[in-house]
Amino acid sequence: MTNSPIGIFDSGVGGVSVWQEIDRLLPDESIVYYADNANCPYGEKTRIEVTGYSVKATQMLIAKGCKIIVVACNTATSQAIDCLRKTFDIPFVGIVPAVKPAAINSKSGVIAILATAGTLKSKKFNDARKEFSGNTEVIPVEGGELVDIVEKGLQGTKQSEEILRRHINPLIEKHIDHLVLGCTHFPFLIEDIKRITGDSVILDNPAPAIAQRTKYILENEKLTAYPGNKKQIEFFSSGNIEALKNLVENIAGIKPWMIFSKIEIY
Ligand code: DGL
Repeated sequence: MTNSPIGIFDSGVGGVSVWQEIDRLLPDESIVYYADNANCPYGEKTRIEVTGYSVKATQMLIAKGCKIIVVACNTATSQAIDCLRKTFDIPFVGIVPAVKPAAINSKSGVIAILATAGTLKSKKFNDARKEFSGNTEVIPVEGGELVDIVEKGLQGTKQSEEILRRHINPLIEKHIDHLVLGCTHFPFLIEDIKRITGDSVILDNPAPAIAQRTKYILENEKLTAYPGNKKQIEFFSSGNIEALKNLVENIAGIKPWMIFSKIEIY
């Protein structure tokens, strides 16, 4: 057992959707969350750039004493996790769009994956799509514009609704019954999406499964925190720390064991 923290990183505030599930499932664990807001969005960047940012994020989290790294970003996982696993001797948990459960559970036989350009063009995603789609039609939809909506806290606005309608209305016409949230920013748009889809479409959010996977690895490697650990949650941002703080405040409230700081990584 060890009280060392779990490290989580994303290009920005999106990975907070994963942090929330991990914190809920593993309430004794200390966590260091790093939002690389200065370089957000990753979705439009090259694989080499995303890999470079991911290596720096990992180095920073290891320097903070983390015992496991959760790559809470589909884009970084799709493009960089193989390199991270080869480079660093620490367990990693990644996140890729949940094609398999959506395809298995689809009744209409048509599902859509809403993700960044970087994720949709990656080999990791396309391999999963080939392996798990079976007879289900899988429609990839590039939702990079929506990352900015969440980064700016514009959920519930006309602008958010306009972009979402443009993306989702054609999918409803194609009778999708599952929409995979293939970017960790998108769970923060669930209410806006549901206003458009109603109950006719199931939204697949892989964050709870990532929390389960993290718990499984910690238990397996005997890395869990001691029960009753006086935990600390440290949030770092390379850019706009206020955006991160506002989101955490809105969804979980600011607690005495939370610390927010800006950090520069070279
Ligand atoms: N949250 C990220 C993801 O899951 C990436 C968003 C971005 O930086 O483009 O893909």
